[in-house]
Amino acid sequence: MKVKKAVIPAAGFGTRFLPATKVVPKELLPIVDKPTIQYIMEEVASSGIEEVILITGREKGSIEDHFDTSTELENYLKKKGRLDLLQMVQRIAEMVTLVAVRQKEPLGLGHAVLCAKKIVGEEPFAVLLGDDLIDAEVPCIQQMMERYQRLDGAMIAIQKVPKSETHLYGIIKGKRIEDRLYRVEEMIEKPRQGEAPSNLAIIGRYILPPQIFEILEKTQPDQRGEIQLTDAIKELNRDLPVFGYEFIGDRYDAGDKLGYLQANIAFGLKHPELGKKLKRYLKKYPL
Ligand code: G1P
Repeated sequence: MKVKKAVIPAAGFGTRFLPATKVVPKELLPIVDKPTIQYIMEEVASSGIEEVILITGREKGSIEDHFDTSTELENYLKKKGRLDLLQMVQRIAEMVTLVAVRQKEPLGLGHAVLCAKKIVGEEPFAVLLGDDLIDAEVPCIQQMMERYQRLDGAMIAIQKVPKSETHLYGIIKGKRIEDRLYRVEEMIEKPRQGEAPSNLAIIGRYILPPQIFEILEKTQPDQRGEIQLTDAIKELNRDLPVFGYEFIGDRYDAGDKLGYLQANIAFGLKHPELGKKLKRYLKKYPL
């Protein structure tokens, strides 16, 4: 079945980026000149997904505003003859159909996804986490959708990470069944140092079947009081196959201060107006 809807959780407090995120949602912090969540929205739109379900919380209204029409701004740009900028802002508002659902309590990623249940209905859907920016020739979620067509069950994006970092991720153990594709056998959310079953980490792109909702409804919170999506997918794996797909692309953890700076440099170096100047500037800081 075709994937037509994407869920983007965006309800977190962004505590890792305080004080920047005291008023501004972390999803709107820019990478060069675009809010991080716009990169995710562009990935969704260029993969052919038509509808986005944004899971938001209090003080997150400005994310919706960013993807809405801004008549005042548009009139101003028209008057000033800035048609290039006008087109740019109009394109953002036309990218996808957006539906926002409030997550009323911060009960974890699994709970955030569960909030989309009624709107998703009985079809497979994509989940994209805003912290994971993936720079790829073919958008990561499109790569996954292409592989998913022939499969049933669930698919999660995976990437090899250094052993020293496995405690920061959901980790899978799987059997490689074809190029870049694994059949997942085990999953563990943020294993303690030395307890990871492999170095294959879950990266924030998922294709999930609707059966995940019933499981999420029964999934118990972990020690931190959070309902983990990984735990629900692990449960799903008893009845339906779960596949890990090692995507092609560069991934940046925009939810981490260093990852955020790295993403700014990488996207800055590719920026048509800034690339060359930034490269020259960075020479001031030899390794
Ligand atoms: C979430 C998932 C985790 C995954 C990670 C990828 O964790 O729970 O399994 O590895 O995203 O970014 P978070 O980083 O939101 O704590």
